[in-house]
Amino acid sequence: MNILVIGSGGREHALAWQCAKDDNVENVYIAPGNAGTALEPKCQNVVLTSTDASEHSAVIEFCQNNDIDMVIVGPEAPLVTGIVDACRDAGIKAWGPTAYCAQLEGSKTFAKEFMEQNNIPTAAYQGFTDATAAKAYVDEQGAPIVIKADGLAAGKGVIVAETIEQAHEAIDDMLADNKFGDAGSRVVIEQFLQGEEASFICMIDGDNILPMATSQDHKRAFEGDTGPNTGGMGAYSPAPVVTKDVHDKVMSQVIQPVVDAMKDAGHPYTGFLYAGLMIDKAGDPYVIEFNCRFGDPETQPILMRLQSSMVDLVAQGLAGQLPSEAKWDNRPALGIVVASKGYPETSSKGDVIAGLPELDTTNDNAVKVFHAGTAFSNDNENEVLTNGGRVLCVTALANNISEAQQAALAVTAAISFDGAQYRRDIGHHAIARENAW
Ligand code: AMP
Ligand code: GLY
Repeated sequence: MNILVIGSGGREHALAWQCAKDDNVENVYIAPGNAGTALEPKCQNVVLTSTDASEHSAVIEFCQNNDIDMVIVGPEAPLVTGIVDACRDAGIKAWGPTAYCAQLEGSKTFAKEFMEQNNIPTAAYQGFTDATAAKAYVDEQGAPIVIKADGLAAGKGVIVAETIEQAHEAIDDMLADNKFGDAGSRVVIEQFLQGEEASFICMIDGDNILPMATSQDHKRAFEGDTGPNTGGMGAYSPAPVVTKDVHDKVMSQVIQPVVDAMKDAGHPYTGFLYAGLMIDKAGDPYVIEFNCRFGDPETQPILMRLQSSMVDLVAQGLAGQLPSEAKWDNRPALGIVVASKGYPETSSKGDVIAGLPELDTTNDNAVKVFHAGTAFSNDNENEVLTNGGRVLCVTALANNISEAQQAALAVTAAISFDGAQYRRDIGHHAIARENAW
């Protein structure tokens, strides 16, 4: 079998690595991939000029010319612009939601209205295009309050305002100063939810739901969950906050209603679905956001634990025959993101990365360095450089979360590049629970 993975992040490295493990797979192509995907056995990066979003013909042409049996789409942008629809029209099997379903991530307004119509628990909200009206609403509601750019903003278009002044500033940034471009020409203002967050990711084939192992992400840039929101600075799996009872509630109150409503609307949901949840003290889940894809960095620890074949699961998903359970390593996994200088506000490129461990191809490695923003140097093909944003995700499997954190930190500490930044407290919620036992 030949597989094409679309994307260039740590999530795509983990997906490609899992696919390559399958004995039935001959080639995994990653478009455009990164230095890490280029080094994996059976894997090669390909440059398709039009993977960027609205133009999908290069993907279709590549699939037709290279006997591609399945396409796995990593990031949201091509999903939102209809890459899965375009592939299907061309008779190519592509795993992901259609453009209609991807609106759950592509438009916060669509997602909020969808949740309201289908009684899916979420924060109360209102949408605005006018800054004065938005500020008046904030004044009436009080702080803390959450201001979100409507469109795609790579996880960064959300401001949790502690004060009314911060909320006003965020509204001006988005609506008046256009800081998030078109994504911020409309804002959603939301009630601030309290509790502990968890990421709940499923595979859905239109009908059947296969929940992935649970996980928890760390969105803030700095230790102690402070600083600006990022795409995610680290994650671990499973998330102890998702007890059996919480799991059942999420399935019945969140995931099943999405599947039912999309089917009723004539647009069955296919692909990964990611519900970002706030779990309150009573164990009730509220949806913070939907993503129409696997999470990044959640994919990295989740797929470290997957013992079923990713390729079989996707093939079953494409055939409408997803099983209800996959096989997981009982051990937890934890991934630490190493980001480039200035992330998330700015992004630096071209710094030499030292101390990367040798690639371990034995498949039973307990620590794996997934690459994201990396590239080979033009001058020295053995040199790996940073390529902006989140650079690496150092992921470890161990007997408990504390040990996984220590193992990941030990490898992370040996890696260096100019301005490298990472959090030493990934997994702190779960570690506090472990220490309390
Ligand atoms: P989002 O991109 O919508 O997932 O938001 C990014 C992060 O902002 C979330 O992971 C939360 O940490 C925080 N956040 C978003 N919405 C809310 C909310 N209504 N209440 C509290 N925190 C929120
Ligand atoms: N880690 C959060 C996301 O993938 O959106």
